[in-house]
Amino acid sequence: MRKLPILVMATRNPGKTAEIRELLQEFPVEIRSLSDFGPIPEVEEDGDTFDANAYKKASFTARVLGFPAIADDSGIAVDALNGAPGVHSARYGGESASDEDRRRKLLAEMEGRTHRKAAFECVISLAVPSGPALTYEGRCEGVLAEAPAGANGFGYDPIFYYPPLQKTFAELTREEKSRVSHRGKALRELRGEFDKVLQWIRKHMPPEDPWNWEK
Ligand code: IMP
Repeated sequence: MRKLPILVMATRNPGKTAEIRELLQEFPVEIRSLSDFGPIPEVEEDGDTFDANAYKKASFTARVLGFPAIADDSGIAVDALNGAPGVHSARYGGESASDEDRRRKLLAEMEGRTHRKAAFECVISLAVPSGPALTYEGRCEGVLAEAPAGANGFGYDPIFYYPPLQKTFAELTREEKSRVSHRGKALRELRGEFDKVLQWIRKHMPPEDPWNWEK
């Protein structure tokens, strides 16, 4: 059987890789992750936007490994805090803080504030080794709860209240959350045009690359 062309998910998080593999299972592509390639240098996520960080991770990985690569960057932006924690969501409160520490810090910052609008945002970047990239974005608006509720999900889910379902994200099942979440939206946008994405990748890979065997 002919080997499938390879697409690398620029993460060592097995959950993220499994999610994208499942989402793209009907397409002729083999999803690998950084864990399949041994040590490569870490990329510093020091961009000012989700877009900049996602592109940085995807293009660096594609260049280093020679395969097209996908990366995502996401976080929560709070209106009353001028968009913070935003791109710093994962490290809000310091490197050693836990998810719970971060939730507590954010609730403390918001104490007494009535304007509690917030949005989860996600950007997915798919880059080829020569540099060009495609970008997919998803956004989900809600409000910061006064106190945590729910035990599902991760990160800021217990304090992100989603008015249309009258629950926090941590009170939704994985399927319910994925239907409305920033990440779910961005991923479905990518899947919706994945046939075209595959053609675009072929066009941007060198002629001698296995990606072009089945042109
Ligand atoms: P990333 O993995 O570098 O994109 O980090 C994103 C950070 O934003 C995570 O560590 C979480 O703190 C937060 N975050 C992103 N998406 C979600 C979500 O769906 N629920 C809760 N927290 C999220």
